[in-house]
Amino acid sequence: MTTWITICDTCKREGWESRTMAQTDGEALAALVEAAATGLPGVKTRRVSCLMGCKSGCNIAIQAQGKLNYTLGDFIPDADAASGIVTYALAHAQSTTGQVPYRDWPQSIKGHFVTRHPPLPDTE
Ligand code: FES
Repeated sequence: MTTWITICDTCKREGWESRTMAQTDGEALAALVEAAATGLPGVKTRRVSCLMGCKSGCNIAIQAQGKLNYTLGDFIPDADAASGIVTYALAHAQSTTGQVPYRDWPQSIKGHFVTRHPPLPDTE
């Protein structure tokens, strides 16, 4: 089952306007995550504009049908963050429930979890 990494590509961290403004912080993180996830089995990426966590960008979501889903935020768009996000998503994809043991969490995602969403019930 595919685990999706959804990256907000409109996030701007504090002081963004004083930097190059060539791209948003979210676009920078998205490019790094996409590159890190290329070719990995069971992990796909997509971009969206705003996950409604704008005050604590950069924000992403980790989701798969029938599993625990997560939102994470306050990422600096760098290779360390991208690597941690993708490593966690791969472990999420390999888990039957979406729960990844804490001992397997990459250091760079610790402290970035915002919410956890239980899977929806199967019944209508
Ligand atoms: S702009 Fe990224 S969460 Fe709103």
